[in-house]
Amino acid sequence: MAALLLSQIVLGKYAHELDRTPEKLKLMMLHKSFGISLLLLLLIRIVWTLFNVKPRPVLGTTRVQAISVWLSHASLYLLMFAIPLSGWLMNSAKNIPFSMFRSIKMPALIGPDEQLAEVFAELHETLVAGFLVILVIHVLAALWHHFFKRDSVLRRMSVGET
Ligand code: HEM
Ligand code: HEM
Repeated sequence: MAALLLSQIVLGKYAHELDRTPEKLKLMMLHKSFGISLLLLLLIRIVWTLFNVKPRPVLGTTRVQAISVWLSHASLYLLMFAIPLSGWLMNSAKNIPFSMFRSIKMPALIGPDEQLAEVFAELHETLVAGFLVILVIHVLAALWHHFFKRDSVLRRMSVGET
């Protein structure tokens, strides 16, 4: 999901810069299709986390650190939900019909509305910017655990580690 999400950002930015050519339409179709796929994967992931054990905080975690971890993970989840949703709302307000991978027709979430389309376009871009800021902090925190605290937080992301 991380790799797909980052590719989505590059794809979205790249396609946004293009003129209205068939290439842009094709890339946008892929952007929207992968975006909705990520939304579905996120829902599966949330159900999975509800029914599985949470990773334990490592020894020595202070209350302030525990709250920061909770806040940053909750923001990442919220943004992973809000970004594709705002894209879908923007697309609906722009009144552009779209089918996932040109085969599954997706419904419009709201009716056509030019002003709302602009609001959601702005929101879509701003949420991505916010997401990137939190992601940089997230990755730096993971590297700090691994290289400075030398604990198991990063290692236990891989299969078979606890
Ligand atoms: C788009 C990219 C990413 C997103 C959206 C993301 C999101 C998340 C979320 C939501 C959690 C909390 C999971 C849970 O407990 O339910 C998490 C945990 C974690 N992530 Fe990421 N992450 C991303 C990339 C990365 C990268 C590149 C690294 C490594 C450098 C990383 C390292 C970690 C670590 C070490 C944990 C904690 C695992 C544990 O407590 O056992 N993440 N990530
Ligand atoms: C995780 C999912 C997604 C990410 C990370 C993402 C990211 C982006 C980014 C970075 C841009 C460029 C914004 C700019 O620079 O102005 C963009 C544009 C756009 N995205 Fe998304 N997006 C996602 C999902 C979606 C979905 C699900 C839809 C619609 C169903 C969508 C529709 C659009 C549209 C219509 C544009 C504007 C393109 C243009 O103006 O030419 N996005 N997206």
